[in-house]
Amino acid sequence: MPVIYLITHEGQRTELHVPQGQSVMQAAVAAGVRGIVGECGGSAMCATCHVYIDPAWLDKVQPPLSNELEMLECTSSERLPQSRLSCQIKVHAELNGLVLRMPASQQ
Ligand code: FES
Repeated sequence: MPVIYLITHEGQRTELHVPQGQSVMQAAVAAGVRGIVGECGGSAMCATCHVYIDPAWLDKVQPPLSNELEMLECTSSERLPQSRLSCQIKVHAELNGLVLRMPASQQ
């Protein structure tokens, strides 16, 4: 089962063991990670699951679709080139070890 690392703005790291096909948001909510809310249930409509992909992983994560790009205009923290909605990141074997950082406003 792939392991995903979620790091808060303060540097606290959570290790998530995520079944393939599940989204990072689903795994984070199930694990009780503070700051990943998933208010819309994963339909790219709320931006409460905003994360920053570690630059080393940018080319390994599938690119965002247009609906995600639109919602990324509405994040509470600054949108960066590596911004993503974690509900749109479906986990698969090649993402084992993926590092994601959480924005300052999500704690
Ligand atoms: S859970 Fe709402 S946009 Fe990701």
